[in-house]
Amino acid sequence: MTTPPTSLERNAPRGARIVGTGSDLPEEIRTNHDLTRTLDTSDEWIRSRTGIGARRIAGKGDKTSDMARRAAQRALESAGLTGRDLDMIVVATVTPDRPLPSTASLVHHQLGARIDCAAFDLAAACGGFCYGLSLARAQIESGMARHVLVVGVELLSRIVDWTDRGTCVLFGDGAGAVVLGPTESSAGGRLLSTALGVDGSLTESLTVLAGGSEEPTSAETVASGRHYVKMNGQEVFKAAVRYLSEVSARALEQAGITADGIDWVVPHQANSRILEAVASRLGIPNERMFLNLERYGNTSSASIPIALDEAVRSGVIRPGQHLLFCALGAGVAFGAAVVRW
Ligand code: ACO
Repeated sequence: MTTPPTSLERNAPRGARIVGTGSDLPEEIRTNHDLTRTLDTSDEWIRSRTGIGARRIAGKGDKTSDMARRAAQRALESAGLTGRDLDMIVVATVTPDRPLPSTASLVHHQLGARIDCAAFDLAAACGGFCYGLSLARAQIESGMARHVLVVGVELLSRIVDWTDRGTCVLFGDGAGAVVLGPTESSAGGRLLSTALGVDGSLTESLTVLAGGSEEPTSAETVASGRHYVKMNGQEVFKAAVRYLSEVSARALEQAGITADGIDWVVPHQANSRILEAVASRLGIPNERMFLNLERYGNTSSASIPIALDEAVRSGVIRPGQHLLFCALGAGVAFGAAVVRW
């Protein structure tokens, strides 16, 4: 027999909580040492500037939708659900299988989701997972959806220029996923806040110039490498420190808790120096940052759900703990969320 809800729980407005996590990483490991065979760089330079030691590279036949599906299946399994239980599928990615259809439609089909389950891609670059969480939360809290799958997935190895040492050393491939569902409990796990933002004046600091409608792919754009990621690293660095701190502070305030109350920050795994600066601004010790970028590099929208899945499965994150997610990327679009696990 289940315990009847307390009056507090009966009156608690419907909330959203993460009920399952999953991830998928390619087998191939490309270390900093491997990169020195073709690039004028060194393990020491990459580690000291970024904290990255290796990244995973998707196999030739692997597609974004394959990795998204595998991460999603693991998240569904851990939630005790199937694709048929989903009301919405959000795939945050800037490396879709194709410009159209959406990668989410492919994942929808592979998971056997119902025809009345919505599915679409979300383009907010490295901020994409936080945008997806915010959307899922609103859908569930409003009662419009019961179970929402949010996937962050990137095959960045396909859009970086492997001769450009200023960008290619940073990125890796991977997928992470969460399933969110409703909760009526005021004391149990739930998303306590989500905060988002964009500084559109910085769109040129991280971009892929060609391949869109502004500059359609042509022999010339390919020859000049304009379909690869271009970045002004220092501009992105400064924006990341500033906006990750600001949006995290906003999410903490909305959740009604202080930085002291955060057990784990599970940040977008961009760069350890950026994250140290953000931790210092928020007044959170570095030891409370859950980092795996040493092994996987920057996997953009996938990095938070991959780290979350690792932390949950290894028992680092426990029920009742408070987590802060924060992310920023091209756009520059950024977001944060506070979660009681
Ligand atoms: N190996 C060796 N030397 C390198 C490399 C490399 N991989 N890359 C650049 N250099 C050289 C440059 O050519 C330059 O040489 P020069 O002085 O002879 O011209 C020198 O190192 C300094 O270059 P900077 O670009 O000024 O180096 P910086 O200290 O700014 O570090 C970095 C570059 C690591 C990219 C840094 O700016 C950064 O981390 N920025 C944040 C970018 C980021 O995280 N982007 C990810 C996407 S957005 C996000 O997720 C937040």
